[in-house]
Parts: sequence; C-alpha cells; structure tokens
Amino acid sequence: MAFKQLFPGVFLDAGQRKLYVRNSVRSFRVHGEALREEGKNEYREWNPKQSKLAAAIAKGLHSLPIKPGASVLYLGAAQGATPSFVSDVVGAKGGVYCVEFAPRAMRDLLRVCETRDNMLPLLADARKPEEYAKEIEGGKVDCVFEDVADPQQAEILIQNARFLEKGGAALIAVKSQCISSIAPPEESYAEFKKRIASVFEVVEELRLEPFEQDHAFYSLRKK
Ligand SMILES: C[S@@+](CC[C@H](N)C(=O)[O-])C[C@H]1O[C@@H](n2cnc3c(N)ncnc32)[C@H](O)[C@@H]1O
Repeated sequence: MAFKQLFPGVFLDAGQRKLYVRNSVRSFRVHGEALREEGKNEYREWNPKQSKLAAAIAKGLHSLPIKPGASVLYLGAAQGATPSFVSDVVGAKGGVYCVEFAPRAMRDLLRVCETRDNMLPLLADARKPEEYAKEIEGGKVDCVFEDVADPQQAEILIQNARFLEKGGAALIAVKSQCISSIAPPEESYAEFKKRIASVFEVVEELRLEPFEQDHAFYSLRKK
C-alpha cells in the first residue's frame, strides 16, 4: 500500500513522505494539488506550505482532535482551502462550521461548501459568536480551529470556548506579529499563552517554520 495512515483520515505517502487526505469529492482541488488513485479511493495532497494545519502535522503534532465523525468550528475559513481538507478528514459523519467575515472570501467559500454536504458556510464575525450560535447543532462542537491573524486572536478563542465542553479541543495558529510587531516572537507567544491561560491548558506547542515564518501552533484543552 502506497499510503500509510498517520492519523485517522490523514495519510502519508510512504515514498515521498507527503501528506494526503482521501478526497470526498472526486477531482476536487483547491491549489492544483496532486490527486492520486489507490484502490477505489482518490487521495489529495495536503501541502504544509499552503495550510497551517498541514504544517503543524508535518512538524510533528502528536494528537489530532480533528478526526472522522468530529464536528469542527472553523474560525477564519477564508476561501475554504484548509476547511476542505478538514471536511475530508471528518468525513460524512462529521461537520465543519466555516466562519468567515469577508464577503469576497465568502464567495469562493460558498463554491467549496456547495460541493460538500458536511460544510456549512457562516458569514459572520468570529468576535460575535452569538450571531452564529443558533447554527451550531446542540450548541457544542468537538474542536474549535482558529486561523484569523487578528491582534485579538486569544480573546476570539476564549469567546468561542462556549461551544466546547470541559476537556474539549482547540487548535490555533498564532502569528507573532499580530500580537506585537516589534517584540521577539517568543515574547508574543508567551503573551498569547498568558491571555488564554484562564480558559485553556496547552497540550502541544509547535513552531511552524520553515512552512510559515513567525507562526506558532497550539493544541489546547478547555479547562
Ligand atoms: C489566514 S486567513 C485563513 C486561511 C484559512 N485558514 C486556510 O488555511 O485556508 C484568515 C481569514 O480570517 C478571516 N478573519 C479575520 N478576522 C475574522 C473575524 N473576526 N471573523 C471572521 N473571519 C475573520 C479573514 O477574512 C481571512 O479570510
């Protein structure tokens, strides 16, 4: 078998050591990524240079709370590139709530969501979770994922923690310059951890270089 499972729903090409997901929509791609057939499945390459979640996996993330059947609240869905990979990982029994506030990005995101039954686009501001709370089935998700590149990214995560049970998972990509454009990245990351400490404990912390400059990635657990 050419593909080895790294996490449920995430595969490693044994020869080239590239990441793949099982493509749930045949021939679908977002960045012209490679598609490969194996058995009755089509696999889609997931490039760590184009997705911070793939970068975190490539950098050795130990545990991935985004898994088949999981519900994910995705904050900062942009044009739907990484959300489409999350959609492939969680599969038909899971779901991805895609929050994005830029109308231009939303137009492209809608096109991606139209191809996938498990993605729900939400044109909303992640700083106002009350605006989309009624769309979240049962009011809870298994994982909140955030990639918004906003100075208030810690506070946005805390506001959206209402959708997690105690022990629930959050994943966040933190751009150091969003916290301070002059402080060294390590100081910005320390500041981020201080800001979320009352609500989350840090499970894993990774730096995303060389895939993303001055970015850290956190796997968190709600206290
Ligand atoms: C770095 S991009 C996300 C890229 C995406 N995660 C991917 O990998 O495909 C950040 C996105 O967050 C969106 N964003 C920033 N602040 C937001 C907010 N408060 N509410 C909703 N979306 C926001 C921006 O419009 C932008 O599309």
